Amino acid sequence: MERVLVSQDAQFDAQAVTDAVAAGIEEIGRASSSEELASIRTRYAGAESVLTRAGRSLGSLPPADRKDAGRLVGKLKADFGRAFGARQKEVAAAEEARELASQTVDMTLPVRRRPLGARHPLPRLMEDVEDLFVSMGWQISQGPEVESEWYDFDALNFGPDHPARQMQDTFYVKGTQARDAAGFVGSNMVLRTQTSSDQVRALLTRGVPLYIACPGRAFRTDELHATHTPVFHQCEALAVDRDLTMADLKGVLDKLAVAMFGPEAKSRLRPSYFPFTEPSAELDLWFPDKKGGAGWIEWGGCGMVNPNVLKSAGLDPEKYTGFAFGVGMERTLLLRHDINDMHDLVEGDVRFSDQFVMGE
Ligand code: DAH
Repeated sequence: MERVLVSQDAQFDAQAVTDAVAAGIEEIGRASSSEELASIRTRYAGAESVLTRAGRSLGSLPPADRKDAGRLVGKLKADFGRAFGARQKEVAAAEEARELASQTVDMTLPVRRRPLGARHPLPRLMEDVEDLFVSMGWQISQGPEVESEWYDFDALNFGPDHPARQMQDTFYVKGTQARDAAGFVGSNMVLRTQTSSDQVRALLTRGVPLYIACPGRAFRTDELHATHTPVFHQCEALAVDRDLTMADLKGVLDKLAVAMFGPEAKSRLRPSYFPFTEPSAELDLWFPDKKGGAGWIEWGGCGMVNPNVLKSAGLDPEKYTGFAFGVGMERTLLLRHDINDMHDLVEGDVRFSDQFVMGE
């Protein structure tokens, strides 16, 4: 087709527009991104492109040439559009594949390089004990660790000469000379030697009927060795109500034994003496896993609340009765998991605690 002049600046040049579109299609073939494709489309099919200008110039052609020229422009547009569309699909697929590849996670890489700690089994055990009491409708009470001698001893019917009061058994702390809840001024302060110290405190502050468990720390001047530590944990339990009997005590003890040691566990009471209970008993646990065969193991102390303790709390022992018991938490943990040395509990080696995290 020969060149035809259509206006001063717009000629229809069939060869030029064919070459231009061929060059554009070639560039499309080499394009590797959607940005590149977009720029190619602007250059070869945009408002100022040779192809668009050729289309615009059709109207100025002599009618005889217009049909062929129009057909050519239409074919070139279609060729360009097809090439563009096909390449666009390929490029988009490649881009998506690249994007996905950049987001893949290597499942074989090591994770959590920083070692994690593990909770100590003792507080977890104490939470289990608390849960049991709460499930029975009891309250949890936590008295102070620095306690007045009155709550730790006097209110619990310990006589002034009781050996537990001696300096070699008990840590004494300088008193504050302040008046305490019982109106006692300047009483000597001690690191509580037993969580039983919470008994009268709870009776005075919470009133009756009272069903409380007091899990917590207690202190005695023992050397650290395989079976003792100077800082240890107990759980005290106290129920004061009308008409409570030793049968109620026994029922709760058996429930605690089963919760701690499984369905075969049971408790046994052996006559004993504690100043704050009358009658008093040692609490033994039936222990199927005992070394050398199943048998009874000493676990704690218990009894019916001594009337003098009820009087300390301003209660009438003719109206109210109660029972109490205390068990050592370390001892419970040692028995439960066959741990032989108290050192393991206090040394803070995470490898010890780690063993109990399994299966959580
Ligand atoms: N407080 C006692 C101790 O530390 C344990 C105990 C014995 C608690 C008899 C009690 C009880 O509540 O009734 O050895």
